[in-house]
Amino acid sequence: MQIRTIRLHDAPALLAFELANRAWFESHIDARPPDFYSLAGVAAHIEDVLARHVAGSMHPCLLVEDDGSIVGRCNLKDIDPATRRAEVGYRIAAFACGRGLAGAAVRHLMELAYGQWQLAGLDAHVTIANAASARVLERAGFSFAGPSPVQARVAGQVLDCLHYRHQG
Ligand SMILES: CC(C)(COP(=O)(O)OP(=O)(O)OC[C@H]1O[C@@H](n2cnc3c(N)ncnc32)[C@H](O)[C@@H]1OP(=O)(O)O)[C@@H](O)C(=O)NCCC(=O)NCCS
Repeated sequence: MQIRTIRLHDAPALLAFELANRAWFESHIDARPPDFYSLAGVAAHIEDVLARHVAGSMHPCLLVEDDGSIVGRCNLKDIDPATRRAEVGYRIAAFACGRGLAGAAVRHLMELAYGQWQLAGLDAHVTIANAASARVLERAGFSFAGPSPVQARVAGQVLDCLHYRHQG
């Protein structure tokens, strides 16, 4: 398994990953718009995140198995040069959970953040129902910082989130 920056030609494999895990993700995090779930929708999404990467506001990554299939995604989002902070986000295929992949993804994002991007700190927002994700952050050295201003809409329910922070 390798973790690397997303590329334009990842669209077919990314669509397969997102479709196979759509119900799994939608049971934990905000749903994507329906028009995302087509080759054109995913290609447009990749173009958007790569443009943000070039602009310096995002670092979008994939977790890729040796056979080329995608088993997860992780992103540095909203990179802010003024505060030198960014948000971490990640999602792992349902069948691949419990193998430490999210932990590896967060460690990869921390290396990018404090190495290449020279950031000072990281933030994460986790729904109150997502104990596994909170555990991943705590294992990576993040600390609970209090209620988050962010809310998520999961399976028709509005869920409060918890704010986690890490200092580089
Ligand atoms: C949350 C998620 C990223 C975890 O991925 P993963 O690859 O299984 O995570 P890891 O294997 O690295 O670590 C999971 C940890 O949570 C623990 N865990 C799993 N289920 C748990 C639960 N219900 N309650 C508490 N801890 C739990 C595991 O034991 C493990 O901790 P450990 O290393 O101390 O044993 C994955 O379930 C996922 O993608 N969910 C859907 C999308 C999502 O929620 N993304 C995060 C948004 S903030």
